[in-house]
Amino acid sequence: QEKVEERTRSLKEANKGLEERNKFLATMQAVTNLISRTMDLKQVNQMIADSIARELGYVGGILSFVDTEKNVLKVGAITNNTETKKALAILPKDPREYETVLEEGYSLGAQTVLSGKINFSDKMSEFLSPPVDKDSLEKIQAQLGVKTIVGVPVFSEAKIIGIIHFLMSVKKDQISSLDIETMTALTNQVGIVSRNVKLYNTLQHANEELQDANMRLRELDKAKSEFLSIASHQLRTPISALKGYLSMIIEGDFGKIPGPINKVVKDLFESASRLARLINVFLNVSRIESGRLKLEKKPLQIVDMVESVMDELKNEAAKKELKFDFKKPKKKVPQIFADSDKLREVVLNLIDNSIKYTPQGSVIASIEFDDENLTFMVEDTGIGIKKDEVKTLFRKFVRGSGVAQVHTGGSGLGLFIAQKIIKEHGGRIWAESDGQGKGSRFKFEIPLYDEKTMEYAPEEK
Ligand SMILES: Nc1ncnc2c1ncn2[C@@H]1O[C@H](COP(=O)(O)OP(=O)(O)OP(=O)(O)O)[C@@H](O)[C@H]1O
Ligand SMILES: [Mg+2]
Repeated sequence: QEKVEERTRSLKEANKGLEERNKFLATMQAVTNLISRTMDLKQVNQMIADSIARELGYVGGILSFVDTEKNVLKVGAITNNTETKKALAILPKDPREYETVLEEGYSLGAQTVLSGKINFSDKMSEFLSPPVDKDSLEKIQAQLGVKTIVGVPVFSEAKIIGIIHFLMSVKKDQISSLDIETMTALTNQVGIVSRNVKLYNTLQHANEELQDANMRLRELDKAKSEFLSIASHQLRTPISALKGYLSMIIEGDFGKIPGPINKVVKDLFESASRLARLINVFLNVSRIESGRLKLEKKPLQIVDMVESVMDELKNEAAKKELKFDFKKPKKKVPQIFADSDKLREVVLNLIDNSIKYTPQGSVIASIEFDDENLTFMVEDTGIGIKKDEVKTLFRKFVRGSGVAQVHTGGSGLGLFIAQKIIKEHGGRIWAESDGQGKGSRFKFEIPLYDEKTMEYAPEEK
């Protein structure tokens, strides 16, 4: 009989221990849940202070944090319920206005933060006075029925960032090890949360700044594109007029002109043409950027086009005494499906580049094809390209580091436009070079015209 009773008693005790442990885990879970729902540090601290009374069942708690600049401790949150509110009304001022100086011997609160060790006291005044006056504290303690105060330091990444004062309604010897464990666990949560929230806020801040910067950049970019578009359109008409009249003068429409002036007029015409080409480049870029680059694809014999480009540029090549050649395939070249004006710009820029960036030697264009694709290539013996620049040259405004040696002007837009145009044709463009000073090969590949799959409906006349 006795044995059974004893056994029952010990089982009951074990059960009680388990129950308490369970309660502890459930409490911590509830607190963690609460905390993880918000990223506002003030709110989190208040939640923790409130959970000390609501979840843990203690009288209440005071969370204070170190102000490293002033080297003082300031109240961050106090359990907010009717009892504590009434008790705090005893204080002559707002509890948040008090500052505990972090000096040896100032108060037990300061001492706890300085030492990083848990402290106990049966007097609130021992922990909190100074700065709070003893009288008020004694009244508050009596009113709340506080028997013990436990001061637990708050650690965050090995640094002490504050303290939680737990107000308990029991004497020190009635505080269990589980209570201490609970208080420590909660205090650790405060440390972790404060670190997370700070990280989060830093990230958030950086993110907002980035977004701002991004928006400003986008607006600028848009403004720039609009300006480019408007300026180019406005410039086009007067320059066409200029070119038109200059060409009429050269043709002799206004009568014969004296030799020296003739040369000047020809130079003027050249300059006007260059200007017109540049404006065309800008227009193309602004079309690309606003998504207004439209292709009018037709079956096209690229050989004729390359020949006409070669013809247009042969004087430039001759000026530098370059070997200038177009190697046509022996077999008949099949048609491609392309916008002939746009593709001509690509071929023109590639061959023009090769001439520009080749001080001596040769510029040779050629064509290859298989059943599906045609590849156009221009190979030169010029300044070549550094390995790491082979891809970047196709970006907007990028000019290679080698161009400085040949002192030629250029916008760095030609290849950017070329790449967009070739991509729009469903093809690809790339550069190859064995390195600086070793010449370059620029190639693009484009699909052949296939009557069955490519829709071409010539407008009826
Ligand atoms: N054949 C080439 N050999 C060596 N470098 C080249 C060659 N073609 C292009 N590049 C490099 O690529 C850069 C970009 O070429 P892109 O045609 O885009 O601009 P650009 O020729 O400088 O100016 P633009 O064509 O607008 O007058 C050139 O500045 C040059 O550094
Ligand atoms: Mg160019």
